[in-house]
Amino acid sequence: MPEKETVLLTGGAGYIGSHIAVDLIDSGYNVVIADNFDNSSPEVIDRIEEITGVRPILYEIDVTNEEDLRQLFKENQIDSVIHLAGLKAVGESVELPLKYYSNNLNATLNLLKIMEEFGVNKIVFSSSATVYGVPETVPLTEDMPTSCTNPYGWTKLMGEQILTDAAKANEDLSVILLRYFNPVGAHKSGLIGEKPNGIPNNLMPYICDVAKGKRDHLSVFGNDYPTKDGTGVRDYIHILDLSSGHLKALEYAQDQKGVSVFNLGTGTGYSVLDIVNAFEKANNIKIPYEFTPRREGDVAECYADPKKALEILDWQAVHSLEEMCQDSWNWTQKTNS
Ligand code: UD1
Repeated sequence: MPEKETVLLTGGAGYIGSHIAVDLIDSGYNVVIADNFDNSSPEVIDRIEEITGVRPILYEIDVTNEEDLRQLFKENQIDSVIHLAGLKAVGESVELPLKYYSNNLNATLNLLKIMEEFGVNKIVFSSSATVYGVPETVPLTEDMPTSCTNPYGWTKLMGEQILTDAAKANEDLSVILLRYFNPVGAHKSGLIGEKPNGIPNNLMPYICDVAKGKRDHLSVFGNDYPTKDGTGVRDYIHILDLSSGHLKALEYAQDQKGVSVFNLGTGTGYSVLDIVNAFEKANNIKIPYEFTPRREGDVAECYADPKKALEILDWQAVHSLEEMCQDSWNWTQKTNS
């Protein structure tokens, strides 16, 4: 039996990270999580163990701390890294740009430095469709121009640039940049899912708050976009599909050198009203809503062309919108209430 590969998952206790941890463990990888629980909790580690029967190794550290990260690499033979740790609230990033640049960029720089020290050459980076800025056309392909409308987005784009330059300078380095569209849904067990702090910014967690009676209605931000029903169109992707994309990317990183970039989306755009209707139908719950003015910085339409990931990674999203709505609600009822 070959030795199991060991993957360092930074931000592994978060919404996306916890699902990837489960998939990695289920696929036979050893998982080491580095997380400072800034936007997650230690309970998530128990839940990962409950689902998989295996407790991932946990380092409660900040990835920006060089000594702590070095210690982790000393104590574990890391084969590859999936780097998700970072701050991600768009609005907060506009208020506190230096905090975002400092945290997100230093985490990536520190990680690359320590990886080099220990001869670790494979990294999958959590990027975002936000790097496409205000798209001129949709669907978005990976070679379309990039730009950002807020500091959070810039930290993702700059992270991509740092990794790209690092790979140019070190020909052994394999970098996979994954641009996520809009992750929703939760693990089928209902034990892990998205748990935003305070008032949710994102659509699905807000709808779940309305469904459980925590808020009385949804504000639909704008009904005058040039879309089929006037509301914003996005590419919602089930978290289980997003997670499986990381495992495919990790496999691909074994064979390639240099940088590759992939969209992780379904290729289908749904409007806000599509989501409200699908949620109501899937869960048999009424979601009252009101139209309000557009939210600053929002674009009319954003959805992926996911062909590249299919052709090269042999990956595509398989979970339906109905499942996204059911699984978000299952998690909300079971655990997140
Ligand atoms: C947002 C972030 C993006 C980030 C992503 C993570 C902004 C401008 N963009 O994307 O950088 O990567 O989350 O998932 O914040 N909506 C409502 N009412 C609500 C909430 C949302 O109508 O209460 C609408 C929005 O106008 C949009 C759609 O729902 O049309 C999706 O919004 P959201 O879930 O916040 O995601 P994005 O804005 O696409």
